[in-house]
Amino acid sequence: MECASPFKSDILKGKVALLTGGGSGIGLEISTQFGKHGASVAIMGRRKAVLDSAVSYLQSFGIPAIGLQGDVRKQEDAKRVVELTVKQFGKLDILVNAAAGNFLVSPEDLSPNGFRTVLDIDSVGTFTMCHEALNYIKKGGPGRSSTSGGMILNISATLHYTASWYQIHVAAAKAAVDAVTRNLALEWGTDYDIRVNGIAPGPIGDTAGMRKLGPEEISNKSKEYMPLYKLGEKYDIAMAALYLASDAGDRHFPLLLPALASSSCACPSF
Ligand code: HXC
Repeated sequence: MECASPFKSDILKGKVALLTGGGSGIGLEISTQFGKHGASVAIMGRRKAVLDSAVSYLQSFGIPAIGLQGDVRKQEDAKRVVELTVKQFGKLDILVNAAAGNFLVSPEDLSPNGFRTVLDIDSVGTFTMCHEALNYIKKGGPGRSSTSGGMILNISATLHYTASWYQIHVAAAKAAVDAVTRNLALEWGTDYDIRVNGIAPGPIGDTAGMRKLGPEEISNKSKEYMPLYKLGEKYDIAMAALYLASDAGDRHFPLLLPALASSSCACPSF
């Protein structure tokens, strides 16, 4: 259940965020909370109707928001969306990679192209967005100081920590996302002052993923194995994202860089 934010309402004042998959599920909740805490928000997605509805929802809170249609699998879309975000809002401070593809399928029924499709969306898509955002989000980028870079946040999962039925493609894709997070945290943290973080949500209620992947009987059974006997909520993930995007999440010291590079924030099972 949503409660009043524990954060001050201006902690992202003046920040500009671009979120892939920002029109639905966890991505929309992060967009909403970023906006409610002062950020201007650009959301990217494939479906215009979903984007339009999400932008109206964000604007109903007075959030400066735009929707940009595009597919993270297409480098030209990634480039255009990043450029349009900067054109609209003047700079880019925060990139959140929340776009994901998923379906339940056994390995023997999954074609190599189905496997590749999910890696293309989750893993290659995440890297492509980071790649296209680099020149804007690094220190000295347009609208940035010469010493301060922005923040990249990659949303993965916990499926790949062990093994999960019918999720071989997603587990492989999310493992790659975590690897991208760690390596960019090391290299772009060092070279460009960009903080790169990850959040790895466990099962989160009221999302397309859970509706598709967790039929009622499965999610009820799995709750028995969860420490708090309940699913996580989108709000929980958005609050973690908000912390990481805020100045409170900006405290890193050179000596801690190796720790930063492996500091994915996991929210396994609630
Ligand atoms: C088997 C499937 C399939 C299915 C697609 N494919 N759906 N194989 N079972 N249900 C295969 C196709 O046969 C094809 O391979 C290949 O994948 C590409 O399919 P397309 O339909 O052409 O791809 P596309 O239209 O680009 O759609 C990709 C998509 C996407 C991945 C299916 O539409 C999608 O998943 N959208 C839903 C987004 C979503 O659910 N997001 C929430 C993510 S939740 P062949 O060989 O036939 O060409 C999440 C949380 C994880 O990530 C953690 C949970 C705990």
